[in-house]
Amino acid sequence: MSNEASTSGKETLTVRDNRTGQDYEIPITDGTIAAKDLGQIKIGDDQPGLATYDPGFVNTASCRSAVTYIDGDKGVLEYRGYPIEQLAEKSSFLEVAYLLIHGSLPTKDEMDAWVHEITYHTFVHENVKSFMEGFRYDAHPMGMLMASVGALSTFYPDARNITDADNRHMQIVRMIAKMPTLGAWSFRHAQGKPFVYPDNDLGYTANFLSMLFKMSEKKFEADERLVKALDTLFILHADHEQNCSTNAVRSVGSSEVDPYSAVAAGVAALYGPLHGGANEAVLRMLRRIGSKSEIPAFMEGVKNGNERLMGFGHRVYKNYDPRAKIIKKSAEDVFEVTGTNPLLDIALELEKIALEDEYFVKRKLYPNVDFYSGLIYEAFQFPPEMFTVLFAIGRTPGWLAQWLELVQDKDQKIARPKQIYTGDRQLTFTPASERWA
Ligand code: SDX
Repeated sequence: MSNEASTSGKETLTVRDNRTGQDYEIPITDGTIAAKDLGQIKIGDDQPGLATYDPGFVNTASCRSAVTYIDGDKGVLEYRGYPIEQLAEKSSFLEVAYLLIHGSLPTKDEMDAWVHEITYHTFVHENVKSFMEGFRYDAHPMGMLMASVGALSTFYPDARNITDADNRHMQIVRMIAKMPTLGAWSFRHAQGKPFVYPDNDLGYTANFLSMLFKMSEKKFEADERLVKALDTLFILHADHEQNCSTNAVRSVGSSEVDPYSAVAAGVAALYGPLHGGANEAVLRMLRRIGSKSEIPAFMEGVKNGNERLMGFGHRVYKNYDPRAKIIKKSAEDVFEVTGTNPLLDIALELEKIALEDEYFVKRKLYPNVDFYSGLIYEAFQFPPEMFTVLFAIGRTPGWLAQWLELVQDKDQKIARPKQIYTGDRQLTFTPASERWA
């Protein structure tokens, strides 16, 4: 084969299997090759063809999607083509939810109908209340949310009719509407406080704050600046292409289960400290560092591999997470109302050091969405274990938009990857009675 690159200009890959000397031409489509096209590369007709090995799907596209676009090198994030910066500044969470689910911005009538539908589906069956009251007094709210979302599938058995568009729409409305109720009740249970029912006079985010914090007052009054800041945080968390929890929703959804069960799988994945649980882990990390003077020792621990700088790094962003920039600005608005968080100084110093330190620069580790969000949540008086519940409420429209794409995508099949088998083969079984005699 000649050394100079032979540019045929064709959108194909020519590979030679040196085991057989056989050449293969594989089509390139949208910057990918179809893994199934590797199956033809084999050393004999009775041998399996080649497959790919990609733990964590670091370099594997699982689907075609038009919901969210990310350019990790440029720090670009767009929902249905709209830059996140514009949506965060000018839109509302329910309008962004409509955009993600329906694929276009709503007319006034469409928005009014959407808001009405969601407002009037915020209640849950009273049995859900008693179900949630059954958790231990100190149950983690994410564990309660994961279980309660899954339990909703038993209250709406018709949700398994996933091929019916009207049915899908109804379940999507219910889930977006009820997630704040379940999230707030998980919080109230952990606080040992009575559950507060939805107040349909309030907007989506104000109603959530009412269910969280209302006590004996007749009507909950939320500070508009806090409502706006939390609504913006929901927008920033609404979708993020094929992240771990969305992959879980798609993988579970590929078995054609109902959307409540698929979203419950997403909540479960989000719970992990490497994913949505990172915002809680950031606060615990900042508390553990305790003061700016302790930062150098902590950073040494990170570079020795004994620590992770939680809230830093990202599979896709090799630049500053655009959401982190916006959250950092939102923090100023919130701290105006609540007073600043002393941990903010430690976070700012950590960021300053990390952005100059070779270890982080070489690995392109920048603050991600979780680095500053926890500081805002804490300013709202949320305990750290509630932070990921807030992430889940924001991410629900994204999970559902991706699930909708999945169930209507003719390319999709039940998720069932291959493996590389490393275990024993063909052993002879000796019954216990002989093994133990
Ligand atoms: C979210 O996917 C999404 O879109 C997720 C999300 C969304 O909106 O859905 O954006 C939300 O989950 C944000 C990420 C929140 N997680 C954290 O903040 C936890 C800390 N960060 C990491 O654990 C890590 O950065 C991940 C999990 C986010 C990404 O992991 P990758 O892509 O698998 O990268 P990696 O673990 O292979 O790391 C590459 C290198 C390694 O070093 P070397 O082996 O090359 O020596 O970078 C190092 C890692 O050790 N590294 C870190 C680090 N993150 C990566 N070192 C110290 N601190 C970190 N935070």
